[in-house]
Amino acid sequence: MKFRNLATPALFTVILSLFPSVQAQKKIDAEGHQWWQHAVFYEIYPRSFADSDNSGMGDLNGITSKMDYLKQLGVDAIWITPCFPSPQVDFGYDVSDYEDIDPTYGTLKDFDHMVEEGKKKDVRIILDFVINHTSDQHKWFLDSKSSKTAGHRDWYIWRDGKGANQPPNNWNSTFGGSAWKLDPATGQYYYHYFYAEQPDLNWRNPAVEKAMFDVTRWWYKRGVSGFRLDAVDTMFEVEDLRDNPTLPGINKFGDPNQEVKYNAKLPEMHDALTKLRTVADESDAVLIGETWTKNIEELKEYYGGHRKELQMPMDFLFTQVNQLSAPEFRRQIAGVDKSGGWPVYLLSNHDIVRAYNRYGDGQHNDDIAKLMAGLFLTLRGTPILYYGEELGMENNDPTRREDVKDPIGRLGWPKEKGRDGERTPMQWNDSANAGFSTVAPWLPVPASYKTHNVAAEDKDPDSILNFYRHLLALRHTDAALAEGEYVALNENDPNVISYLRRYKNEAVLVALNMSNTEHTVKFDLAPQGFGKAKSTTLLTTLKPAPARIEEVSLAPFGVYIARLSK
Ligand code: GLC
Repeated sequence: MKFRNLATPALFTVILSLFPSVQAQKKIDAEGHQWWQHAVFYEIYPRSFADSDNSGMGDLNGITSKMDYLKQLGVDAIWITPCFPSPQVDFGYDVSDYEDIDPTYGTLKDFDHMVEEGKKKDVRIILDFVINHTSDQHKWFLDSKSSKTAGHRDWYIWRDGKGANQPPNNWNSTFGGSAWKLDPATGQYYYHYFYAEQPDLNWRNPAVEKAMFDVTRWWYKRGVSGFRLDAVDTMFEVEDLRDNPTLPGINKFGDPNQEVKYNAKLPEMHDALTKLRTVADESDAVLIGETWTKNIEELKEYYGGHRKELQMPMDFLFTQVNQLSAPEFRRQIAGVDKSGGWPVYLLSNHDIVRAYNRYGDGQHNDDIAKLMAGLFLTLRGTPILYYGEELGMENNDPTRREDVKDPIGRLGWPKEKGRDGERTPMQWNDSANAGFSTVAPWLPVPASYKTHNVAAEDKDPDSILNFYRHLLALRHTDAALAEGEYVALNENDPNVISYLRRYKNEAVLVALNMSNTEHTVKFDLAPQGFGKAKSTTLLTTLKPAPARIEEVSLAPFGVYIARLSK
């Protein structure tokens, strides 16, 4: 497919360099928007992004070496999943020291260098704050378990069992088995929502709160622009540790199902997050939440209403639309758009099967990858891209239990295969191991790396990569895409989702065919004030580009994006 009316890659670079640091220079724009509202965020799983020392695992120097790639793509901030010292039971989500870098990934000096290089390119650094639990090897926990009277005893949640070999209550760990582990030395159980190697911190203890808030201050001083907050929902548990209600059936780990009622989403969490926000505001930092919500009402609570809480709670409802359904996406977008907060969209991440697999039909996957980019990069709000999405990277799930690295995949096999599939090395070129490493990487790359890689897609004007680049360049230069309100069009169309991003006398029209058949859509834009507007194609996969905006024939999975001006 061809792009129409688009800048060539060379011209595109020129356009970008004319607008190099809009975000960096202006803290707040004419609409009162802050840098993170116009930024494009990009999630990096450091183990899998770029391996500078050919150890088979990525590292911080690897990330630094790819700053130009990120800048050229149109990334303004990278969120790096945990790179702190860790026994790596949960690949970094078990932190044993919050104020250092794991040797796998480098040193604090490498970190400072990355921040410096990022600054030169206007790429900000966001770290992952594992707020709910530490590693069982963290010095706080080692002291806590050393005796019932240890200084840090009350930094974690310790209780007597109900009887011999009976944990304090029926709570399941979300990663399988009881959420309690007996420590024979002191005869008490400690609580862990995730793996036993990830004991939950006791957020009711003010000393924990202070220590954790200070961790964020320490990194802000080092130049980070904010945090993605891990597993915030599970920070608090009810004080009397009541049993959760049991539900029929068993889960994928073989445990009785239960309603997670008394150990997640407690109101106290919102108080703690509000205080964490006050700390973030001291450094003008942004807080992004891993916020699993069941409806928009719950999502709204994370924004904080009258008091400030998270600037960017992630909308996971959007990631749970697992089929190409115009009505379903329309419904989700409308809900988030009206939530009163700034929307945050993502298609996948290191815990979620890649969008390429979730939406692909096996035949038109590349077209569908562009379609999904056309959707989530033209909405009002901030997108968070997952590394490799811009290439059409796909899941590479293990086929044998003995190959699984993610412990939940071994525990829950075969119902739960774990998250290795979506965490494979970035595909840089078509040489061995996708150019990630000269030695066998920690996870194998899928066969698609031969065609879906940076080097090959860079050269192909029709590649998914170049489609992303064009879209992101538009986001950075088009006022209506940056500021415009979301106006749904043709709301009863079952196949094509269309909308305007309307701003003053301009608007961008987006039409996306979510079906595998051609559809002609008619637009009557008079009610929106654009009845006689002039239209210019900005980006399309249609050949030829439609001649008239009033009637657009969209090929299967076709994308059409046009500017309207009065
Ligand atoms: C979050 C992370 C996930 C991790 C879990 C426990 O959900 O995204 O990868 O396993 O928290 O820290």
